[in-house]
Amino acid sequence: MQFSLIIPTLNEAGNIDLLLTSIFSHDNLGDQFEVIIVDDSSTDGTPDKVRKWQNTHNVHLIERHARPDLTASILDGTAAAKYEVIAVMDADLSHPPERLASLIQPILDGTHDITIGSRYIAGGDTIGWPFYRLWLSRAGGWLARTICDVNDATSGFFAFRKELIKNITENARGYKILLELLMTGREQLRVKEIPIHFHNRLHGSSKLSLSHHLTYLQQLITLAGGTVSFYTASRFAMVGFLGVFVDVLIFQWMTGQGISLATAHISSFIAAASFNYALNTKWSFRLQHSGHLHWSQFSRFLIVGIFAMLLRGAVLAWLVYTWNISTEWAIFPAIIATAIVNYLGSAFYVFPRTKPAVSTDTRWRIAAVGIVCFVILLRLVYMSVAQLIPDEAYYWQYAQHMDLSFFDHPPMVAWLIWLGTALAGQNEFGVRIGAFLCGLIAMAYLYALARNLYDKSTAMRSVLLLAIVPFGFAAGLAMTPDAPLVAAWAATLYYMERALLANQNRAWLGVGIAFGLGILSKYTLGLLGIAALVFAILDPVARRWLLRPHPYVAVLIALILFSPVIIWNMENDWASFLFQTNRVGKTHHEFATPKLILQIAIMLTPVGLAAAVLALRSVFLSYPQTTRKSLFIGVFTGVPLMVFLIASTFGSLRFHWTGPLWLALIPTMAWMIGQKNIFKNISGWLSAAWQPMITVSLLTYAFILHYVTLGIPGLPYQFLSEHYFWRETTAEVEKIADEIRQTTGEAPIVVGMSKWSIASALAFYNNNHPALDIRSRNLFGEHAAMYSFWYPSESPTNRSILLIGMKRQALESGSAEGNFERILIKPGSTNTREIYRHDGVLLRTLYYRTAEGYRGNNLTPSSTSASVENR
Ligand code: GDD
Ligand code: MN
Repeated sequence: MQFSLIIPTLNEAGNIDLLLTSIFSHDNLGDQFEVIIVDDSSTDGTPDKVRKWQNTHNVHLIERHARPDLTASILDGTAAAKYEVIAVMDADLSHPPERLASLIQPILDGTHDITIGSRYIAGGDTIGWPFYRLWLSRAGGWLARTICDVNDATSGFFAFRKELIKNITENARGYKILLELLMTGREQLRVKEIPIHFHNRLHGSSKLSLSHHLTYLQQLITLAGGTVSFYTASRFAMVGFLGVFVDVLIFQWMTGQGISLATAHISSFIAAASFNYALNTKWSFRLQHSGHLHWSQFSRFLIVGIFAMLLRGAVLAWLVYTWNISTEWAIFPAIIATAIVNYLGSAFYVFPRTKPAVSTDTRWRIAAVGIVCFVILLRLVYMSVAQLIPDEAYYWQYAQHMDLSFFDHPPMVAWLIWLGTALAGQNEFGVRIGAFLCGLIAMAYLYALARNLYDKSTAMRSVLLLAIVPFGFAAGLAMTPDAPLVAAWAATLYYMERALLANQNRAWLGVGIAFGLGILSKYTLGLLGIAALVFAILDPVARRWLLRPHPYVAVLIALILFSPVIIWNMENDWASFLFQTNRVGKTHHEFATPKLILQIAIMLTPVGLAAAVLALRSVFLSYPQTTRKSLFIGVFTGVPLMVFLIASTFGSLRFHWTGPLWLALIPTMAWMIGQKNIFKNISGWLSAAWQPMITVSLLTYAFILHYVTLGIPGLPYQFLSEHYFWRETTAEVEKIADEIRQTTGEAPIVVGMSKWSIASALAFYNNNHPALDIRSRNLFGEHAAMYSFWYPSESPTNRSILLIGMKRQALESGSAEGNFERILIKPGSTNTREIYRHDGVLLRTLYYRTAEGYRGNNLTPSSTSASVENR
């Protein structure tokens, strides 16, 4: 084998003889190779040890006297190399010489450009490293994987063709020359990883130090398209530090004056940000960007600032409201969060590196990582800070009445809430943790699906799209049946693809489990079963599965998982199944297809809808000579879509029903963004349209969440809050109930005058005294979903009844007014109370009425009029 083996050394005297003996004892390497040892002024006599070998073997020694640097040493070694194929290995016997031949062969054969001795693929591992090193190395590897597709990009054992080295910039430094090599021509390079056992060194000590880790980080950021240098970073930090003073001073002063948290933190932020901005543009980033900011740069600066500000509000609210940390202390972690967003935003988005050019692909990857992290952080913080919406409270009520299934939904949502609250307590976090985890699971499966269908870049963009489209964002935060549904939908698609396209027997097990759990979440998942059947009919290869046991085993598993729902329905006169079929049939006739399209534009964003249409078009255009892949995507999107489209010609659908069906198409949508060669204008247009759409969506979520927790100064609440702020509202209801108890001597029955939302929200937030006796509208004979099962009826009673409504009409028309003969309403019309937050901000109005002399409900449900509120 003809190759040059480069071995960098720094104080390796104890290893040289062992290493060279081992290398020259491997016959499979032949005797045509040279060994170049590049020593960085070792002080332990390493060069002398090497010199002893020079006369007898093809060993050369290069002695460097510049500042020691591993990358520079390897570059020097390469420059002196005689052969076209270069291999690099450590001197400390960590890398197995017996693997050299397999490393070099693919390069010699010309089948690959770079080969890597990899610890992180099957068959490879690391032996003898202390825990912290393993962990550091893993973390470093994970970071590298965001921009590069190799599993072990930080390996020190690799081979390549010499000409590749010319792509490396002259000032490349540090340990990670391999990463540099991989990134310079990522698209064209053919890379192969070969598993190795990495052994910790026996002699001498590691030269890897903290400064190497920092250099590595810096190198990663630069390769990823960011601007970073210790110079800018330290100046940025100094400016930031001064900014913190401005920030904290103003914030503490304002909160001291009794000014609200939102106003205080936003004012102090704006002051500090203006201050930082002035100094940063003039000072920190000045070197790369002389002069002042271009307007587009300035707008990006503003966007980053707004994100940072909204996130800091979130952190502040979380620390103050959830952890009860005093505002004086909470502001510091909040500022740290601000600084991180600001710094990364500046380095990658406001002042990105432009020379040498960074590929759009890499930019999208970085955007994906950054935005997905931001979304996860938002969810993590707000899932405990934001109050429950009534829907979530209703499903929490499910969990208080644990059962095999429920009338209007299958049981998964209840089980998850039960588990979450059992572990974390009866609070918002406990209710939502399941949704949060489902959000992560959905991301993971969508990622894996998209990677199997396309590639890693597409997979990253897919997760990005899932994180920012409204249905995806909401499903990972709000605990509704859609949270587990979206996760199970993604998982089912993943296993279906593995089973139907990749022909993996084992995947059917996954199909069965994911499908079963999915249909335990929401019946719509059943549409994927139809899609699978259609696919098997259309695709000759997949058709063979129909004659094999695997799909039937999957069906059986799904049925077993689904059996609780069947048992519940058997015990309850098939109520749930009848309800679902009625729901589709009974809606009054209406051609609701335009409405459906509008709903999709909301669920996916308008750009998402346009991208979906283009993606469907590209899938179906290739139809005649369709690839199996495009058939899969077409069928698994098309079948559910057709069902909803047809249903919409009969009557309108709930707006979120179509959400999950886009999971099958998102990979194609994400893929198209990057296909410059195939979809010339379209891809450019998509890429350009998605950017503002992503920004706007993300800003909207962060803004709304900030609004409903801390508030936005100058923006009043009372318009949007009918369905919200039940914590404070319940406290007021408790007071009213107490007033009634004091006058009548008996606590009233509290009736939420809506189908289920008011009763549920009151029940969740009624954790103070007195424990309210809460019912829903079905007290008066109207249908109230599960409440009809939980509280079937109430016999005549002299107890007072307190009616609670979200709107005035709910108490003055519909069931309350319609039940006059059964209920005596006290003279005087509906009462109202204003609900304030603890700091005096007006939240909403509460409508209530008291009544006495309930004569019992002996009307049949159908005879009562339709009420104002359907939920
Ligand atoms: N010429 C030169 N100059 N050689 C150096 C220098 C330097 O500044 N620093 C280290 N070396 C040599 C060492 O003598 C050894 O042969 C090899 O480079 C690796 O150095 P170690 O100090 O043994 O590194 P490590 O074992 O901690 O790190 C290994 O694993 C990392 C993965 O986490 C190396 O293989 C790294 O390259 C790898 O990234
Ligand atoms: Mn080592």
